[in-house]
Formats: sequence, C-alpha cells, structure tokens
Amino acid sequence: MKRIPIFKLNFEKKFQDKYKNLSNKVFNSKAISEGYYVKKFEKNFSSLVNSKYSIAVTNGTAALEIAFRTINILNKEVIVPTNTFFATIIAIINAGGKPVFCDNKPDSPEMDIEEIKNKITKKTKAICIVHVGGIISNDCSNIVKICKKKKLFLIEDAAHAHGSFLNKDLYAGTIGDIGCFSFYPTKVMTTGEGGMITTNNKKFYVKMNSSKNFGRGKNPNFINFLGSNNKISEFTAIFGLLELERIKKRINKRKKLVMRYLEKLKDNDNYDVIIQNKGRCSYYKCIIKTKLNSKIIEKFCKKNGINLTGKVWDTPIHKQNVFQKYVTRNNLKNSEKFSKYHICPPNYPELTYDEIDYVCTILNKI
Ligand SMILES: Cc1ncc(COP(=O)(O)O)c(C=O)c1O
Repeated sequence: MKRIPIFKLNFEKKFQDKYKNLSNKVFNSKAISEGYYVKKFEKNFSSLVNSKYSIAVTNGTAALEIAFRTINILNKEVIVPTNTFFATIIAIINAGGKPVFCDNKPDSPEMDIEEIKNKITKKTKAICIVHVGGIISNDCSNIVKICKKKKLFLIEDAAHAHGSFLNKDLYAGTIGDIGCFSFYPTKVMTTGEGGMITTNNKKFYVKMNSSKNFGRGKNPNFINFLGSNNKISEFTAIFGLLELERIKKRINKRKKLVMRYLEKLKDNDNYDVIIQNKGRCSYYKCIIKTKLNSKIIEKFCKKNGINLTGKVWDTPIHKQNVFQKYVTRNNLKNSEKFSKYHICPPNYPELTYDEIDYVCTILNKI
C-alpha cells in the first residue's frame, strides 16, 4: 500500500546554499532586526501582489489584528464569514470589535452576498472577506461596491491567497482597503512563522508601520498610540525573499495538481473540484465538494494510506464554544452543510502526479 503524507516541504540545496550566504551577510551587517532585507522583502512582496505598500509582521493573526485596529473597530461590528479559521475572529475581538457571522452561499465555501447586505446595521464598520483555499470569489467586485455605497471598510483575510488574482485590478490583498497574509509552514510560501499586510493607502501604511513598532512616530522615544511589537528579523526576511524567488513556479505546480484531480475525478458524480475560472489562483487547497459525508471518505482514505489535509473548515465558527457570545442566529445551514460535504486531499508542490493518481484511484473506489 502506498502512503501519501499529509504534507511535505522541501528546500532544495540551491535554496539552502543561498540562505547560508545571505545569513552570513546578515551576521556581518549588525542589523539583525528590521534592516535592509526586511525592506527588500516588503518591496518584492508588493511586486507579487501588485500593492503599493507591504508591511512584514510576525504572523497572519497579527496582520489581521493590526488591520482591524487601524480602521478602528472598537465597539463596532465586522461582518465576517462563519466559514473561516478562528484567527480571523480572534483578531476582530482583540481589536475591540464584534464579529457578525455570515452564512455561505449554498454548496460553496464563499459568503452569501445577500446575507452580507441583510447584516449591515448602523454599527457595521467593515466587511471581512476570506479567500478560502486561495480562491477569489467572483462576487468580490460586488462586495467592493457594497462597501463603497455603505461607506464600510473591506479587509481581506488573504492568508491562503499569495499571488491569487482575478484580473489586473483584482489581486488578493489589494481588492479591499487592507490585505493580510500568513507565512505559516503549510502556506503557499513560508518563513517558518510570519505575515504580511498590504495596502494602497498611504495613511494606513504609515499607521500600520508604526503599529508594529509599539506605536512609535518619528521620535523613537515616544509613542503616538498603543501599538505592539510585531517586527520581524532579517533572517525571516531572507527566508521570505528566497521563497518569493520560487513562489510562481510552486503556484504553477499547485494548479497542475488541482487540474490532475479534476481530470481523474471528472467521471465521478460524487466529486466536484472547485476551481477559479479567471486569472491566477494560489490553490493553497484543493477543495472538493462531495456527495458523501467527508468522515466516510476520510476513514476510507486513511485505511488506504492517505491522510486528507485540514478542511476549510471542519467546524464553522458559530459552532465553536468560545464564540457563542457572538452568535445571534444558530442555523447557518449552508456553512454547516459545506463543512460536512467537502474534502481537501493533499495538494503541495512536492506531491507527484503518481501520488495524485493513487489518491484518485482510492477516491473512485468509494
Ligand atoms: C484564513 C486564515 N486566517 C488567518 C490565519 C492565521 O495566520 P497565522 O497562522 O500566520 O497567524 C490562518 C492560518 O494560519 C488562516 O488559515
């Protein structure tokens, strides 16, 4: 029996040699934190996502919290999908806001736009969208229109969506006012731990740069507001720079793997592979809608040496005990159904086509 690991991540020898070289330069530069390479990393990340400004921070959750603090959501409501990772919600609450959970569209990981409209109140300050699995929703332009009309901020949780775009004007991280990325090891690119905030708004850029540096202004002896310390080291930045050198190739491989799943499962009505029809998708996840309950599929795959990866997501936020205080309506049915009826098979660039073919042979046997 073949064994397909849940995750693999390789750094080729050339990558490691370059890292050693650059780290020698960092050791000799005497600027171990927030020096030349952090600035370069931010600049090169902006080129990937087509943003005017990028700000490197300690992780994706910190990126989100800084974004929400910057638009000041204190005692205000933020409309957010119930189908997200808890970090999105933690960031809203830590920034003093109230999350308002929105259901999915039927049979989709995306938020329902009609529900978004219904949830807007006088207290709403922002809408937060999540590019689940790296896929940008075709609804995003309409969500931008709603925000403009109602004078709401739009925050993008782009933790999965490095380099995703629908067209030249709709790159993940620049669709809204502020975009937030994660560099956790399983993500499309990694720095071990890390995150990036993107914006085209100069005022926000200045404020967020200060926010990750305690709230300091020009005079480092004073702070202008209560920020925090979310600065990164030069070693993290050189890691990120090298990841940026290979990201397009790796995204391309992720796409090819998803297309292989699509091809091998196309004659089976039990599966429906979700793809982004336009532009480029990071394909952080291969999301497959299923007719069977995912628990049955998971069990069968496990018996055959296949570990399916984490779903997006297994438990909607409104079903998590910790967030019950914020739940006003408990029957967000579409998200509950979606959480049960989808799987995310392995989809990392280190995976081979033979391995995918094996996964599909097993999936087709169920
Ligand atoms: C949708 C989403 N938002 C935010 C985060 C948080 O990022 P980090 O782990 O870098 O804090 C993650 C994953 O880790 C995520 O999947």
